[in-house]
Amino acid sequence: MTLILAFETSCDDTAVALVRNGREVLASNRMDQNTLHAKYGGIIPEEAARQHLVAINPLLQQTLDEAKVHIDQIDGVAATLGPGLVGSLLVGVQVAKTLAFLWNKPFIAVNHLQAHICSNYLGSELHPPFLCLLVSGGHTQLMRVDEHHQAHLIGETLDDAVGEAYDKLARILGLGFPGGPVVDRLAAQGNPKAYDLPIAVTKNPYDFSFSGLKTAALRLFEKESLQWQTDLEREEGVKNICASFQDAAVRALGKKVLRAAEAFELKTIAVCGGVSANRGLRHYFEQRQAQFNVYFPPMAYCTDNAAMVGSAAYFAPLSNNDGLEVFSRVAPSVVDSTK
Ligand code: KG4
Ligand code: ZN
Repeated sequence: MTLILAFETSCDDTAVALVRNGREVLASNRMDQNTLHAKYGGIIPEEAARQHLVAINPLLQQTLDEAKVHIDQIDGVAATLGPGLVGSLLVGVQVAKTLAFLWNKPFIAVNHLQAHICSNYLGSELHPPFLCLLVSGGHTQLMRVDEHHQAHLIGETLDDAVGEAYDKLARILGLGFPGGPVVDRLAAQGNPKAYDLPIAVTKNPYDFSFSGLKTAALRLFEKESLQWQTDLEREEGVKNICASFQDAAVRALGKKVLRAAEAFELKTIAVCGGVSANRGLRHYFEQRQAQFNVYFPPMAYCTDNAAMVGSAAYFAPLSNNDGLEVFSRVAPSVVDSTK
C-alpha cells in the first residue's frame, strides 16, 4: 500500500492531493488563477509564482484535513519537476522537498506530461499498452504507451498546441481567458457545418498543425463581423464560428488517432490534458466505443491537478531527482520515436 502526497504548480494552478496506489484519490484540491490572469489575457509567470506561494499552504492543510491521514501513513512526497514555468515549478518542488526532509520520506519528482498520461489511471483499471492523445495548452502529442513509465512519441503539433489555438480564438472573439471551456460551451449552441474550416495535412501522418485553422477562423471572424447588424446576429455568428472551429479541431485530432490505433494495432485509446474536458472530443470518441476501449480522465483531472502527479509518482517516477540542478535537464520520460 503506497500513499503519496503530491503537489502540482507547473503553470497557473496550485494543487495538492493524496493518492493511494496510483489510482485512488483520497483528497484533491486546486486553486486556479484565472481571475488574476484574465485581465492580461494570458499567464504572467511572475504573478503565477507569487500566487502559488499564497495558495499552497492552505491547500496542503485542507488536503490533509479532508483525507484524515496522519503524516506517519504517507510514504512519499511528490512534485512536478517540469516542463513548466520555472518560478512556478520551484514553489511546488521546494515545498515537497522540505516536507520530505522534515518527515524523513522520499521526494519523488514527476514529469508533467507523464502525469497527464497517468490521470487516466485514476479511478480506472487502465493498463498499458494503449495509444494516448495528450491535448493541453502547451502540448498536442500522440504517444504509444508500452509500459507505465514508458511512452513513445509518434506525432505532435508542428506549431500551436490545440488548447493554445482554442485560447487564441477565444481572445480574438473577445470571450476571455482561458478560452477553451467558453468556446466549447458556445460550440454546443452553434452550427458545426456553418463554415468549412481547414484541416492541415502533415508529412508525418500522425503530426498535427493548428495555426492554419486558427488563422482561417480569425479571417472568417474579420469578414463575417462586418455584416453583423444586431447583437443577436453577432451572438449567432460567434456561436457558429466556435462550432465550426471545434468541428474541424476535433476531426483533425480524431482522424489521426484512429489511423494510428489501426496502424499500431492498439484497441485502447486514452485521451488526457486540459482539452480532454472538451465535449466535442468526448462525443467523437464515445461514438467509437464499439471498435475501441476509450478512456477519458474524470472531468476534475483533465486540466492540471495534483491527483495525476500522485499517480505518476507511483507508476512513472523520474529517477534523477536528487537536486535543484535537475531543472536544467528534466529527464525525458517520453521517447521520441518520430526521429
Ligand atoms: O492541461 P492544462 O490544464 O494545462 C497545460 O498543461 O497546458 O490545459 C489547459 C488548456 C487551456 O488551453 C484550456 O483552454 C484548455 O486546456 N481547455 C479546453 C477545455 N477545457 C480546458 N479546451 C477545449 N475545451 C474545453 N472544454
Ligand atoms: Zn498540463
